[in-house]
Amino acid sequence: MKIAFVGKGGSGKTTLSSLFIRHLATTGAPVIAVDADINQHLGAALGLDEDEAAALPAMGARLPLIKEYLRGSNPRIASAETMIKTTPPGAGSRLLRIREDNPVYENCARELELDGGTVRLMVTGPFTESDLGVACYHSKVGAVELCLNHLVDARDEFLVVDMTAGSDSFASGMFTRFDMTFLIAEPTRKGISVYRQYKEYARDFDVALKVVGNKVQGQDDIDFLREEVGDDLLVTVGHSDWVRAMEKGRPPRFELLEAPNRAALETMHTVADASYERRDWERYMRQMVHFHRKNAASWGNAKAGADLADQIDPGFVLDERALLADA
Ligand SMILES: Nc1ncnc2c1ncn2[C@@H]1O[C@H](COP(=O)(O)OP(=O)(O)OP(=O)(O)O)[C@@H](O)[C@H]1O
Ligand SMILES: [Mg+2]
Repeated sequence: MKIAFVGKGGSGKTTLSSLFIRHLATTGAPVIAVDADINQHLGAALGLDEDEAAALPAMGARLPLIKEYLRGSNPRIASAETMIKTTPPGAGSRLLRIREDNPVYENCARELELDGGTVRLMVTGPFTESDLGVACYHSKVGAVELCLNHLVDARDEFLVVDMTAGSDSFASGMFTRFDMTFLIAEPTRKGISVYRQYKEYARDFDVALKVVGNKVQGQDDIDFLREEVGDDLLVTVGHSDWVRAMEKGRPPRFELLEAPNRAALETMHTVADASYERRDWERYMRQMVHFHRKNAASWGNAKAGADLADQIDPGFVLDERALLADA
């Protein structure tokens, strides 16, 4: 299951995605955690110290390797250089699975021991000021999008992405790549405005979106969120002393997380799991092709000097039978 955490800067995306990842790990589910946010803090939230976090291999710097691997022997993709972030898989492409070992994970992922289980962590790499709004920034997030578009995942395994609600994910189609998107919102007008923008983009693409209220202090906060987002409000989380202790570098055992916050994570897990019923690989493929055509026409063709619509394999659909083939 592909799960995204989005929201305004500082709303608690990293905190809640890290708690969700820890929760999933305790259930024994295989988990890949991905930090695709402008502010790269997921590693730290999962317990790495500064040096360990800084030493994580950046996906953005390994894009040529990722492209070369995913391209496989797909005859429609002439070279890794002509692959853009929206290039869809086709016959001959290599697909990714959550549980396998492959060169992408070998080069871009680190295993982390959490209470109760091991997860793989991948990071886009830090964004610098000069990245914002230019190709480099897109290519970093693009590495994640390429992986999502080549991933075949089953119901009992998870890829969790900590990302921004920024315009980049709307232009490329990244925001349509998830079974469930949790939008973290503080009970403020700014928190809500990010929700409105997301909802607007999501409307035409069947994006499953739920709001998780964070830093909620009382009934008035809950009422505010309920009024503004209605039934999209899934659950709320209050101030957590556990989180505060972790921020001080002294994470208590995960089982000591406050009961209401544990219950919130359970609810999120249940909703994420139930979103499987809405999964539709044909729609997934169709949207992938839609955004590829759009990106090819607006900048990709000019960059590659070729018509990148030719990369689309009309007969190809990702689906979970690829998992059976390996079993
Ligand atoms: N429920 C909570 N209880 C206590 N502290 C919290 C809670 N949620 C978030 N925080 C704190 O608020 C700050 C911002 O949270 P976090 O870094 O998770 O937000 P973010 O949305 O990932 O921000 P950014 O946009 O900078 O990546 C952190 O210091 C975090 O520890
Ligand atoms: Mg963050």
